[in-house]
Amino acid sequence: MSAEIGLGFLGLGTVGSAVVRTVSERTGFLERQIGRSFQVRRALIRDPNRKRDVPLDESQLTVNVDDVLNDETIEVVVELMGGVEPANTYIRRALESGKHVVTANKEVMATHGIELLELATAQGRDLYFEASVGGGIPVIGPFRQDLAANQIREVHAIINGTTNYILTEMASGGVDFEAALADAQRLGYAEPDPTNDIEGIDAAYKLVILASLAFNCAVSPEDVYREGITRISAADFRYAAELGYGIKLLAIAKRAPNGFEARVHPALIQRDVLLAQVDGVFNAVLLDGDLLGRALFIGRGAGPEPTSSAIVADLIDLGHNIRRAVHDRIPMSLDGDLCVLPMPEVRSRYYFRLWAKDQPGVLASIGTVCGEHAISIASVIQKEVDENAGRAELVFLTHEAQEAAVQGALSAIADLDVVASVASVIRVEDLAE
Ligand code: NAP
Ligand code: HSE
Repeated sequence: MSAEIGLGFLGLGTVGSAVVRTVSERTGFLERQIGRSFQVRRALIRDPNRKRDVPLDESQLTVNVDDVLNDETIEVVVELMGGVEPANTYIRRALESGKHVVTANKEVMATHGIELLELATAQGRDLYFEASVGGGIPVIGPFRQDLAANQIREVHAIINGTTNYILTEMASGGVDFEAALADAQRLGYAEPDPTNDIEGIDAAYKLVILASLAFNCAVSPEDVYREGITRISAADFRYAAELGYGIKLLAIAKRAPNGFEARVHPALIQRDVLLAQVDGVFNAVLLDGDLLGRALFIGRGAGPEPTSSAIVADLIDLGHNIRRAVHDRIPMSLDGDLCVLPMPEVRSRYYFRLWAKDQPGVLASIGTVCGEHAISIASVIQKEVDENAGRAELVFLTHEAQEAAVQGALSAIADLDVVASVASVIRVEDLAE
């Protein structure tokens, strides 16, 4: 057996470069931990002219993936390219050729994770993916190992730093969405095309991974109900604060009597719960296990160093497996009998804000529609009055109701003569300790 574990990288960008630096700066430390050292052999890149801050010779860089996948001295492939293809094909080829894989790729793990894990098991190899959710925060390991004795009842997670930064800015600065997004782009948190973050796509991929682990079943991105943050305005933050709530983009997975819920959307949460106080680019995962109760993991969900913390930890664990010639110590077991509830069946409390004529009988008309749809109103506030237009802004909080009933009621309310527009609808999650 060679004293070194050969590593091959697929991708040497923000994260890949940080992992190569960490592995080389901590050679002695890693060798003492594992009993063998890591040696970076080759790295796949796309642009040979790009300057890279990595301690590698130019000869170690390649634009030909075969130089990594066919190199027999490489035992572990570290996939840090991003995107579904060609990353998925390359991971599959790496496992088929007998290599272990570490990846941070949420798109691949959310869309092909189960089949790749099964392939790894069949090949007697390991596939690690701690950095795919929550960056540097340990969440995959705890779900797979430390919480294994629990039946997970609920997960409420803030797993997109960009949107959490934008919502934090809107809450604290009273600014509207566009201004907060521009700020996030200026600081490099949001991409020039921010769609994946602001539409909740990134968070939905990560929720697929968490829900699959929490409920031991195959979840796909299409199963997840998804709403982004683009329709929330500064007014919603003002009213939410007045009612004692903050607004966060939550990824929610909840066990229900006949399945489980999987949804990503903005939500009002009580301001005094810890999750509401997770601000800026920080991520957090709040889970509820039947033995443990609630536990909250908070930390940096992105960035080169935090992400390399998770990836190098995967490499260390894998290094122990290689040294002891074991694999698949914690296989992913699928129950297969749980399915995702259709969104119309989900029950929640709701906040909605609308503009209506400022005249007698308006509240009664809206109340009647709610009553006809079995929706009980918990509170109403009326603050802003546009006297010139004769309109008033009304905010309602409901008791728990079924999504289908609420959507039916809202479209009937929007059709009332006295209602000018339904400006926003946000679900309310009760997370009081
Ligand atoms: P990045 O900076 O864009 O780096 C991607 C790397 O992959 C680059 O080196 C690029 O080559 C290479 N690459 C992409 N497509 C390729 C192709 N078809 N052929 C060859 N090389 C290709 O991305 P990153 O931010 O490091 O993210 C890497 C992975 O980590 C992604 O899955 C991401 O979701 C995940 N992740 C990132 C963070 C974070 O904070 N950035 C946090 C958690 C997870 P060139 O350098 O030549 O362009
Ligand atoms: N774009 C992600 C975020 C980081 O804003 O959290 C990578 O997963």
